[in-house]
Amino acid sequence: MSHLRITGGRPLRGEIAVQGAKNSVLPILSATILSADACRIRCCPRLDDVDAAAEILAYLGCAVRWEGGDLVVDSSRMTGCHIPRYLMEKMRSSVIFLGPLLARFGEASLSYPGGCQLGPRPIDLHLQALREMGAEIREDGGRLLCRARRLRGAEISLPIPSVGATENILLAGCGAAGTTILSGAAREPEIEDLQSFLVRCGAQVSGAGGHTVAVVGKQPLHGCQHRCIGDRIAAATYLCAAAATGGQIALLGVEQRHLGAVCRVLQRCGCTMRHEEGFLALRGPERLRGANIIATAPFPGFPTDAQAILMATLCRADGATMMVENLFDSRFRHVPELRRMGAHIRCQGRTAVVYGVDALHGAAMRATDLRGGAALVVAALQAEEPSAIYEIHHIQRGYEDIARDIRALGGHIDFAADG
Ligand code: EPZ
Repeated sequence: MSHLRITGGRPLRGEIAVQGAKNSVLPILSATILSADACRIRCCPRLDDVDAAAEILAYLGCAVRWEGGDLVVDSSRMTGCHIPRYLMEKMRSSVIFLGPLLARFGEASLSYPGGCQLGPRPIDLHLQALREMGAEIREDGGRLLCRARRLRGAEISLPIPSVGATENILLAGCGAAGTTILSGAAREPEIEDLQSFLVRCGAQVSGAGGHTVAVVGKQPLHGCQHRCIGDRIAAATYLCAAAATGGQIALLGVEQRHLGAVCRVLQRCGCTMRHEEGFLALRGPERLRGANIIATAPFPGFPTDAQAILMATLCRADGATMMVENLFDSRFRHVPELRRMGAHIRCQGRTAVVYGVDALHGAAMRATDLRGGAALVVAALQAEEPSAIYEIHHIQRGYEDIARDIRALGGHIDFAADG
């Protein structure tokens, strides 16, 4: 096991290309099950969660191989439709295999998914929608046993725009008989990316990015080559790190429209931003201003995945910021760790108030979840003394190599063996 060692206090400067989006590639890897030929995911981010998805595909009998930076999945000879518990528990996105497995085999058996501990993360909306499409689902000893001789298209309305449920419904709809109309769909850019992939494979899907998505069932799909969108949360992490250190950076391979809410907050705090297609630049002020109130919301609102990262960014701001977490019950687990560095943060329920302090000092900290871990990196970059961040496996689920990227921007960060 290793930890990250970081010595901060210097502005980040430079230009990097942003990795492909974790939350795009994971449902796309599940979608490869619907294809009768090989699919090539170009420049696929090398993440622990991608390895977990590849392991599930291999277990199901797909041929999965890396070719340089591309991940190639051939599901033409797959036979399995059962995913064992140890694979399900590796990540939340394992549940997105349910829709495509039912669509292809009319059968699936799996257990509840793992993933970051952010409070309760039910899958009731996934199961309800699949039942409306004709699936019979029963639970036996923690296993979900699912059957549908042939899924049928349905009119489904989601009461909450769940990202995962939207993805499962889209994928199930591709293999269902007839048309599925989903209203109340999640509008995240990763849903649009999933639609792009499916359309490339010959599927009839339209409306992603809006509230209503339509899918005309058609099976099997054919193979395709696809390059995922840039990872907007990795991009937000580096923008925040530059903002917090008074730096100046440019990011390639990311769309400003995917990051509108984050950019608006950073501008409110005193950053100057510039963008062109696939290019986003930020210059941070000497000291950031507090952001007043930030409330997380589904896209296009302020992303819950950037909440911890922005909180770390504003620990030394001039003024206070109130952060309201509206999506998950337990997404302030990074706060006690930030306090070790001298941050002044008060929490009550789903609200946290960050009072800017003059300086943060180095500390030993523990990553509690993926984005909470990234937030500790952003905080440590602001302290002149060395910091250590342990339990970085959380960070490695979603960042290809955060140390490589920060180093490319002039930051002092490296891996060291735990001892
Ligand atoms: C996706 O998780 C992302 N993960 C999360 O990113 C992200 O935080 C989240 O969307 C919200 O944007 C992936 O895409 C792999 P949801 P997901 O279903 O799909 C409730 C990261 O750091 N809900 O949109 O699991 C749920 O409890 C990760 O990269 C139900 O009540 O999120 C939550 O309050 C962490 N029943 C809300 O909906 C359900 O059946 C939104 O969850 C499903 C969800």
